[in-house]
Amino acid sequence: MLGHDHNQVEELNSAHCNSQSNFATVKTLIQIEGLRKTYQIGTQEVHALDGLDLRIDQNEYVALMGPSGSGKSTLMNVLGCLDSPTSGSYHLNGQNVARLDENALAEIRNREIGFVFQTFNLLPRYSALENVALPLIYAGMSKKQRIERAEEVLEMVGLKDRMVHKPNELSGGQRQRVAVARALVNKPSIILADEPTGNLDTSTSMEIMGLFGAIQQAGNTVILVTHEEDIAACAQRIVRLRDGKVEADNA
Ligand SMILES: Nc1ncnc2c1ncn2[C@@H]1O[C@H](COP(=O)(O)OP(=O)(O)O)[C@@H](O)[C@H]1O
Ligand SMILES: [Mg+2]
Repeated sequence: MLGHDHNQVEELNSAHCNSQSNFATVKTLIQIEGLRKTYQIGTQEVHALDGLDLRIDQNEYVALMGPSGSGKSTLMNVLGCLDSPTSGSYHLNGQNVARLDENALAEIRNREIGFVFQTFNLLPRYSALENVALPLIYAGMSKKQRIERAEEVLEMVGLKDRMVHKPNELSGGQRQRVAVARALVNKPSIILADEPTGNLDTSTSMEIMGLFGAIQQAGNTVILVTHEEDIAACAQRIVRLRDGKVEADNA
């Protein structure tokens, strides 16, 4: 007999509901307070993040917007544990990761986070399959397991018939699908994408956005940067940055 316990029912409910809910099962994933990132250029200090506060719950779909230089990429790098803030706190799943060393950050990154970049960042001499399988080497899987998992994810993104192709034999949209597959291969909980459609035409952009929507529906948290309003409209929440702070935040 299936147990109809409270949590299970709430999980099912939230899976069919796009709106922000106040269910007890909504968990804070990211809690950022007073985040600062200061770059020193000669004698000049640049405050890329200037006392930023932000909270993101599990399974949210957030678009980060803001003018060039407002701190979007800096924030993404801190969110993704690629970089540490100068000061302030960043709790990820309840753990303050702001002051962790490189190795500890790398471990969290490998376990929790998948990245997608504007320029795809694929290795040109490797096939789609090899590009996607590569991060699994650090997960200590056998070659056979790595290939099976990479094939599975490439199929999920609709590239089953393009696995042996190299990046230059693929269209922009297909390259970005490979990059999305690579981001998903380790089963991360968070997908971070910095202008993932910046090099794609409108219809291809919308295809990639459909992919991110499906990823969020599957239970991931998706955070992406874009400067296009119609791309941002695909997300459930738009956070606007200006001068290293949150200027507006609409669900
Ligand atoms: N590595 C760096 N060294 C010095 N200044 C930087 C560096 N990265 C970003 N900045 C500066 O920090 C500010 C925010 O940059 P960034 O986060 O890239 O903005 P956005 O992605 O919103 O365009 C800008 O003024 C930028 O010039
Ligand atoms: Mg940027």
